[in-house]
Amino acid sequence: MQGAMTPAQFIAGLPKAELHMHIEGSIEAPLFMKLARRNQVAIRWETEAELLAAYSFRDLQAFLDLYYDGCRVLIHAQDYYEVTREYLQRAHADGVMHAEMFLGPQGHTLRGIALATVLEGVLGAMDDARTQDGITSGLILVAQRHRPEAEALELLQQAMPWRERLLGFGLGGAEVGHPPSKFAEFFRRCRAERFHVVAHAGEEGPAEYVRESIELLQVERVDHGNACLQDPALVRLLAERQIPLTVCPLSNLKLNVVKSLPEHPLKKMLDAGLRVTVNSDDPSYFGGYVNDNYEQCQAALGLTRSELVTLARNSVLAAFVQPQRRLAMLAAIDAYQDRADDWA
Ligand code: ADE
Ligand code: ZN
Repeated sequence: MQGAMTPAQFIAGLPKAELHMHIEGSIEAPLFMKLARRNQVAIRWETEAELLAAYSFRDLQAFLDLYYDGCRVLIHAQDYYEVTREYLQRAHADGVMHAEMFLGPQGHTLRGIALATVLEGVLGAMDDARTQDGITSGLILVAQRHRPEAEALELLQQAMPWRERLLGFGLGGAEVGHPPSKFAEFFRRCRAERFHVVAHAGEEGPAEYVRESIELLQVERVDHGNACLQDPALVRLLAERQIPLTVCPLSNLKLNVVKSLPEHPLKKMLDAGLRVTVNSDDPSYFGGYVNDNYEQCQAALGLTRSELVTLARNSVLAAFVQPQRRLAMLAAIDAYQDRADDWA
């Protein structure tokens, strides 16, 4: 490469994995309006601008209210295909070699949409993204934590016909008041069926929920995990075991988990030796895809080039992929580092 590059240029070309994003949180406003019209779903907004103006959230619950309501525009397999394909195209353009995506079936099946319809669209888009763009991806089904555990167990049963196409299961939704312990049996069954398991914890909830996720649910990754910093012994445990945290800085900013990006704990987590990764969560709602998250954190926290590489390497090390794919992605990062000029 000729001449010095900017941090944004370095990030743009840096190979990476994205491990924490919700398919339903990636419906861009134009697609949202198009689907509402096409499916004749009544919505509160007349224009894209009005819809975008509604993307201001006091907290996680205020966001979830809009997010679950927004799912109503998704009805046919083609709709699920389009939203998934669009996300994977954007991810590919951001240098994402591998994406692990969340999908919350209860937001669809409880409206009368068959799981088969949802998965036909999503899995079809994943297949096309791999053959057309070379991006690999996996699907993790998340149970809504404000619902009873029995419904999560039902979800596990419903999903069994697709078991070979699913990476695993997770837990999302309203955190406070719904501790991981509420889902101990669900996670035990998921693990017994040899699925990967992850859980959102420590986003709005306390460090104790992060600990419960690890010790009781035995998750392989913690989604968010910000609150771990309140408990030094827990930080030591996470660092010793190198349990990955899928951190989502712009999400944290938009949902008032942090007051400003300069106050975001990402740098502290890196300094503590945690296997921290950067992700977009719900990119169309939170104002940015994965590279926007890297870029804004780099600028706000003064991350060095080597810290950005560590974040990308962590994402690959934390991915649920076969050894061969992991090695190929790590090699791509190494090759990029050798090729890329220092930034100015
Ligand atoms: N579902 C979609 N986004 C979420 C978030 N940030 N936290 C919990 N559940 C979610
Ligand atoms: Zn999330």
